[in-house]
Amino acid sequence: MSGRQADAFVFFGGTGDLAYKKIFPALHRLTRGGRLDVPVICVARGGWNLDRLREYAREGVERHGVVDRDAFEKFSRLLRYVGGDYDDPATYAALRKELSDAKRPLFYLAIPPALFGTVVGRLHGARCDQGARVVVEKPFGRDLASARGLSRILHGCFDEKRIFRIDHYLGKNAVQNLVYFRFANAFLEPIWNRNYVRSVQITMAERFGLEGRGAFYDQAGAIRDVVQNHMLQVLANVAMEPPVGNEDVESVRDEKVKVLKAIPPLVPADVIRGQFRGYREETGVSPTSTVETYAALRIEIRSWRWQRVPFFIRAGKLLPLNRVEVVVTLHRPPPIFAGPLPPTVAAIPGSNYIRFRLGPDQAIALGAMVKHPGEELAGDRVELLASHQSEADEPDAYEQLLGDALRGETFRFSREDYVEEAWRIVDPVLKAPPPLFPYEPGTWGPRESEALVAPDRWHDPAPTPGPPGGS
Ligand code: BG6
Repeated sequence: MSGRQADAFVFFGGTGDLAYKKIFPALHRLTRGGRLDVPVICVARGGWNLDRLREYAREGVERHGVVDRDAFEKFSRLLRYVGGDYDDPATYAALRKELSDAKRPLFYLAIPPALFGTVVGRLHGARCDQGARVVVEKPFGRDLASARGLSRILHGCFDEKRIFRIDHYLGKNAVQNLVYFRFANAFLEPIWNRNYVRSVQITMAERFGLEGRGAFYDQAGAIRDVVQNHMLQVLANVAMEPPVGNEDVESVRDEKVKVLKAIPPLVPADVIRGQFRGYREETGVSPTSTVETYAALRIEIRSWRWQRVPFFIRAGKLLPLNRVEVVVTLHRPPPIFAGPLPPTVAAIPGSNYIRFRLGPDQAIALGAMVKHPGEELAGDRVELLASHQSEADEPDAYEQLLGDALRGETFRFSREDYVEEAWRIVDPVLKAPPPLFPYEPGTWGPRESEALVAPDRWHDPAPTPGPPGGS
């Protein structure tokens, strides 16, 4: 839906951590870019006032960006504060008053999902929901049943086109570029299928650990935290069919749902779970926790295009470096040149690959065989770096997504059927988790994950642009 611009931004959870780190900086940048010019009403418990809120917002912007004095002044003037309990009708009466004659408010719920029912019910009771849209943060549920329950609650007041489920990976330029690069160029499509592609690997490596989020993380684990949402979104971008065109705003989301529908539910043999040593001593974590901080998965897409092409995902905390990468490896051509293959090539079957670096910087690289100088027809694999750019000049994911939501653009948000398919895929291994293997901080996870990709091996992202697994 390309709706009309919202005329108020109502923020539940504006005194929280996400607001400080991401949302205030994003709203400030939207104001600076002239894309936010409506009241920003923060609804919060806990006896704050407008001055304290402004100070909190300023600090958040300072710590996570650069304050533009004029833009911040303007943003500060847009801020309003409504204090009160989320379950108290008086809070919503005060909100109704602040909303004045706003006709298309955007509600942004950065609050625990357990409160959605209360807040949405009260908004409805105070007639605040008319003409409104709602943005909800992840996690959207903890399994298929709870995600359905949350959608039911939201649908009590908002039809699906007015619900914006956030997955911040959809706001990242590099993630969107997977789709753009595939379909805006002519050379990839002929080889982007089972006839040419040997395997796809998606790695989300994080060098850091829990960063004070132990209590949250111990209820989630890697599969819920990043695989069910971010990693499956990346996979869907790599695997989807071309959307039917620009006219139908739902066509991109339709194609992504089709990818997930072709994936059977995971079975334990397809999943390796790991936990870094020392995790159980982290604040907020149970000393007997069996939650995974690393997960490696083998995924099958039962479609015409991808029959028998394995897709591998791995994601973990306390790995050697911060990198998100996709490596698409092609089948090896027939061996017509004499001589043994150099070890770097023999170790990773397939002479050619296409590597997309999605974060923290962006790059697209092609792995290709090139002849050594000399008489012998022998060579080695080199990387042709097709594109490399820093993220400095692009909008941050939250700026992109909140701007979209204010304009009523839905396609960068997760639709109900998509979210449910994603839970369907991971649900069995959440309900009956496979064994957990320990790994040392700073390593690439448990050794047991190697068997999952055999006879190939994991393409460990290199610290600087260079061949996967190389240097
Ligand atoms: C969040 C997860 O959704 O995504 C975090 O809760 C994770 O655990 C983060 O670190 C990664 O996002 P990004 O944008 O830094 O890759």
